[in-house]
Amino acid sequence: MDEHDQGNVWRKQATYFIELFEYWEKAGVTNHNSTAKALANEDPQSILEIGSGSGILYKRLLQNGYGGKYLGIDQTPEFVIYCSNMYGDGLFKTGKAHEVYIPGQWDVCIMQDVLRHNVPEVRGQILKNIVPHVKKKLIMAEPLAEVETCKWVDTIMTRPWDKKRAELSYYDGDLKADTLFEVVKALKPVGSIRLIERTAFGSDTHKNYFIIVKFEGNSDG
Ligand SMILES: C[S@@+](CC[C@H](N)C(=O)[O-])C[C@H]1O[C@@H](n2cnc3c(N)ncnc32)[C@H](O)[C@@H]1O
Repeated sequence: MDEHDQGNVWRKQATYFIELFEYWEKAGVTNHNSTAKALANEDPQSILEIGSGSGILYKRLLQNGYGGKYLGIDQTPEFVIYCSNMYGDGLFKTGKAHEVYIPGQWDVCIMQDVLRHNVPEVRGQILKNIVPHVKKKLIMAEPLAEVETCKWVDTIMTRPWDKKRAELSYYDGDLKADTLFEVVKALKPVGSIRLIERTAFGSDTHKNYFIIVKFEGNSDG
């Protein structure tokens, strides 16, 4: 297996990730609710999600009244089958973000906790594939490392699920805001880039951010 291909790593942990998601749901943990609420309030016509995983963001969007178009793309077929069973066919599609065919144009593209699980070369390819399909806003949410080596994994490895990830050689690479900004700027002139601190799982141990890239012609908030 290509050590840079994380596809198999995600396939191996798909069942466990879904179990964890269902456990959190039963426990009333409202991961991603504030993001979904903010997005739904902006009322975009269409949202493309890259690395849609268990479909949690889509669930939260529905809970917050979102009625626009949605497409979730994930490289892990187990997640896509799970989501299609939950929400119906046509909303989720299997594919690698760096090579999948992306149909049409989308008001918003969101990637939460996806880029850092890809090696830097692949991150660039992902952005290259996606950016031409984004009309207004590209949102990337990650814990951004501010030091050379990302300590994020080491500090939370004591939790049972993270130990399991370590066994699967889960790639959790260093991600720097500057690097992402440079890639995005090189692809298309952008209106503005904002960093917003967020709270999400793992955020207690490392700084988490949303990077919001607003494309030219988009003048809203
Ligand atoms: C940490 S999970 C996050 C899932 C979801 N965004 C969430 O916030 O719950 C990372 C997800 O990204 C997917 N993923 C990682 N790299 C990908 C790539 N290059 N193309 C497509 N999906 C990818 C994995 O299969 C996994 O479902």
